[in-house]
Amino acid sequence: MPVTIGALRERAPGETRVSLVPEIADKLAALGARVLLERGAGVSAQFPDALYKKVEWADSAEAVLAAADVLLTVQPLSIAQIQGLKAGALVIGFMQAHAQPDMVRALVEHQITGFAMELVPRISRAQSMDALSSQAAIGGYKAALIAANTLDRFLPMLTTAAGTIRPATVLIIGVGVAGLQAIATAKRLGAVVEAYDVRSATREQVKSLGAKFVETGVSAEGTGGYARELTEEEKAKQQEVLEARIALADAVISTAAIPGRRAPRIISRAAVERMKAGAVIVDMAAESGGNCELTQAGQTIVHQGVKIVGPVNLPAQLAFHASEMYSRNLYNFLKPALGKDAALAVDWQDEVFAQSCLTHAGAIKHEPTRKLVEAT
Ligand code: NAI
Repeated sequence: MPVTIGALRERAPGETRVSLVPEIADKLAALGARVLLERGAGVSAQFPDALYKKVEWADSAEAVLAAADVLLTVQPLSIAQIQGLKAGALVIGFMQAHAQPDMVRALVEHQITGFAMELVPRISRAQSMDALSSQAAIGGYKAALIAANTLDRFLPMLTTAAGTIRPATVLIIGVGVAGLQAIATAKRLGAVVEAYDVRSATREQVKSLGAKFVETGVSAEGTGGYARELTEEEKAKQQEVLEARIALADAVISTAAIPGRRAPRIISRAAVERMKAGAVIVDMAAESGGNCELTQAGQTIVHQGVKIVGPVNLPAQLAFHASEMYSRNLYNFLKPALGKDAALAVDWQDEVFAQSCLTHAGAIKHEPTRKLVEAT
């Protein structure tokens, strides 16, 4: 039996992305799947219904939920939506399980197989499925544009009849996927760019983008390429060097994160107060608590002349390309699970499926989530 693949109009506040763009929806249909979308699903990402050529339409979200064998989502489903799914259905999307224990319980109770895109292992073979990376790159790009737009200065050096303008200095803190894209974007706009990360492996990446690496003498490689938490002594040393660089920057873009934890506090109130009036901080970690002590998620505040922007869901601000990239990630994830005549055939020996599985057959398969849900 060919699988029915469903997608909804996203309901989370501020979410403009869609999980299935026309290119991917039609590709899945061409493989033999039945693709069922809620009317208007792609409109907020500039994909009107008419662009989808090979799909079927449902007038309500409920009709999609009731028919889908596989539901592709951007944001986690509500409990009511989960209750509307068929038992045994697959849901593939961002799950934010650590923040949503009740949603995880609902997936278990309704025998839903939940695959979390944020759990896809970061191995070479799975790069084309890496939605954390595709969306982080968009965030980094947009954060650099927000910094440029919020500053009351030029980023590039300009030589004009009205005199020479010195280029702005932009400091990027945290050089993961988002930070690298922020560096590249600020460089393209002509800023003098410096960057810092606790992982010393980022030094060469920063240099290869033509930016300067800030040396603090602290290195904190963790497991799997991620950062570990710093000791108090290391934090103090890092702080001293960084605060001096922060004070000199026109714009700071902070992206520092530790998976599954609150964002590290790197920019103190005192550091903000040493910055010049008109300087800008774009805190990409706003949603997970902020890298800056003063950040308010979803707001821009001004503290002693310094503007602190706390953007949430930056990819939703670039919904067209964010949806295209995310949808391709989903396709690359799902395609190996589609057997002959587009029948569903998940290979549980495959580490990509095994590791990204959050819930299956009435159990929580992801250990850290199981512990967390059982403790709440
Ligand atoms: P992330 O979003 O978890 O963190 C952003 C950055 O913040 C990281 O570079 C981290 O080292 C840094 N950071 C944490 N604490 C900090 C502190 N106190 N001060 C300064 N910086 C701090 O990172 P992301 O973008 O998810 O990448 C994490 C790792 O995964 C990287 O090593 C990246 O190269 C790797 N990766 C591997 C891929 C693959 O092999 N397929 C694909 C994408 C990323």
